[in-house]
Amino acid sequence: MDIGELSRVAHAMTAKGRGILAADESSGTIKKRFDAIGVVSTEDSRRDYRELLFRSAEGMKHISGVILYDETIRQKAKDGTPLVHLIEAAGAIPGIKVDEGAKPLAFCPGETVTEGLDGLRDRLIEYHGLGARFAKWRAVIDIAPGIPTYTSIVTNAHALARYAALCQEQNIVPIVEPEVLMDGDHDIDACARVTEWTLKEVFQALSHQRVTLEGMVLKPNMVISGAKCPKQASVDEVVARTVEILKRCVPAAVPGIAFLSGGQSDIDATTHLNAMNAKFDLPWPLTFSYGRALQAAPQKAWSGKPENVPAAQTAFTHRAKMNGLAATGTWKSDLEKAA
Ligand code: 13P
Repeated sequence: MDIGELSRVAHAMTAKGRGILAADESSGTIKKRFDAIGVVSTEDSRRDYRELLFRSAEGMKHISGVILYDETIRQKAKDGTPLVHLIEAAGAIPGIKVDEGAKPLAFCPGETVTEGLDGLRDRLIEYHGLGARFAKWRAVIDIAPGIPTYTSIVTNAHALARYAALCQEQNIVPIVEPEVLMDGDHDIDACARVTEWTLKEVFQALSHQRVTLEGMVLKPNMVISGAKCPKQASVDEVVARTVEILKRCVPAAVPGIAFLSGGQSDIDATTHLNAMNAKFDLPWPLTFSYGRALQAAPQKAWSGKPENVPAAQTAFTHRAKMNGLAATGTWKSDLEKAA
């Protein structure tokens, strides 16, 4: 393990004003996104779509790293250039999703554990050879009556920590992503309680597995009301509660924190990130690692038509720029109206 190199990459991933594009939708998830815009999901259509993002020169200025899916890290652009080279040429770092999804957890009805540890060392060696310098593993914690259980939180934390140790052993920076879902009707207090519990167990497990905190990036959810909660917390409340929980749980040695968007609207995801950076002086940079909140607009603008590529690139560039500003606390809502 080269901790100097891991730390350099982790800092570059969370460098001021830039954030991560999560373009690592599995074939099943990207099919759902394409169904919504009336596009048939094929190897070529997935390639064409992702190529247009990576070729958005202006938008990519705000992107520090791109999370890819197994198919994409091996794909070539239409002109034969590997997609990984397009990302590097744009000044961003290629990364790879290595988990194999959330599967039902035995004896815990309604809960899951993320799988993918078997054979992971060999896959990491191959991905490093293909250009990946960081990886992602997403654990999913749901909130519902009687859920989450201790079993699910500890089991997911253990898997995350084993993944992170294997990544560092192979000189790949682990993005550690314990996502407390915002589905459901729970209030912000429930989200705060479960997020705090989860992060504490995750950092305990990372310590047990001898993970070096200086060589990782944390990808948490924001502390937010459930999407179906009748009383939605204000922006001030979301940012205060999120910062409070992060301060309690995340050691200052962690180089950076990059939030997931988790189903927030594009504007909410930007507003919350901006308010945290504008209001608080924190031990870590706070940035974005958004999937939906960066891609919903370009997907809609593209709709699978080659003639719409420039419009889709404009839409992507706009969201990347807005979130880049939010990562420095300098975004203003009238910039959205102007666009
Ligand atoms: P969302 O921003 O759409 O939540 O996706 C981020 C991600 O990578 C989830 O694993």
